[in-house]
Amino acid sequence: MKIRIVEVGPRDGLQNEARNVATNDKIELIRRLIDCGHRTVEATSFVSPQWVPQLADAADVMSALTAPAGVALPVLVPNFKGYERARAAGAKEVAVFTAASEAFNRKNTNAGIDESLARFAPILEAARADDVRVRGYVSTVLGCPYQGQVPNSEVVRVARALYAMGAYEISLGDTIGVGTPEKARQMLMAVASEIPMGALAVHFHDTYGMAVANILRCLDAGVRVIDAAVGGLGGCPYAKGASGNVATEDVVYLLDGLGIEHGIDFDRLVATGQWISERLGRANASKVGKARSGGVLDSSLAVRHVHKPD
Ligand code: HMG
Ligand code: MG
Repeated sequence: MKIRIVEVGPRDGLQNEARNVATNDKIELIRRLIDCGHRTVEATSFVSPQWVPQLADAADVMSALTAPAGVALPVLVPNFKGYERARAAGAKEVAVFTAASEAFNRKNTNAGIDESLARFAPILEAARADDVRVRGYVSTVLGCPYQGQVPNSEVVRVARALYAMGAYEISLGDTIGVGTPEKARQMLMAVASEIPMGALAVHFHDTYGMAVANILRCLDAGVRVIDAAVGGLGGCPYAKGASGNVATEDVVYLLDGLGIEHGIDFDRLVATGQWISERLGRANASKVGKARSGGVLDSSLAVRHVHKPD
């Protein structure tokens, strides 16, 4: 069994940082993540710079990077204008995003769910002609900060719409990190009853510390693509109080413990998480990263890490 990790640290991780992150640090982070063995690194966002000022340098970040063979550097786009900017900057893969909660989607994109789906139609059409791959996100799949409960039927409806439009993969996002394992499994299975499991990814935030447990249950249910952010970076500017993504280091440690292949160099990943945490002047939010970087754990007691980049 092999898992593909979609590293979202440079985008989901940095979009919420209050202090300005230097463009060169963003570029360096992406380069280091590629050197760790990542094959998919979500690099930045071509959203409105008024809405997310931290990623206003998206074009500069993209133009400084050349993806090595086999490495994808997708970028987030909210509308056709974002798609055009992304293409002009050389993006070959984009991600569109909407939500299973109407209230959240309005706060996040100033549009209802169906309106945002309608915005994506011309993007998908152009992407087909341009040979650009499109990933789709559904946010708030396990709860919404404005609406509360989100029915699985709505997650299924939105995921199905994105898949039918031509998104090759649908990432199911617990944007505010409120999910628990059994709820996560049921949500995943509901979506997988309509969309092949091979086209699904899970995207957990770790607000309540459940992300790794949720992932384990979803792995058992058959998912093979996991979104994660190095150093547990992140948060959504339109989901106040939500913490970072599940840390990539924690996911890799879990997978190594299970003997599941992932292609990431653990030591390099830990060093990258520590490096970016120091650059941002914040504590390393990865439990595994903290244990390994702070020297608090005798590494002979921990899982042996055998997976090196392909
Ligand atoms: P709006 O203000 O309604 O946009 O924002 P508008 O279409 O009315 O345009 C207003 C102005 O913005 C115009 O400029 C446009 O040209 C410009 P003006 O004529 O006034 O000079 N504009 C843009 N400029 C640059 N790039 C663009 C763009 N679009 C319009 N792409 C909009 C609507 C969707 C643009 C805005 O709400 C937005 O950018 N939202 C994105 C917010 C965001 O990035 N949130 C975080 C990402 S989602 C997430 O984190 C969840 C996820 O991780 C999964 C999970 O955890 O669940 C994916
Ligand atoms: Mg997210």
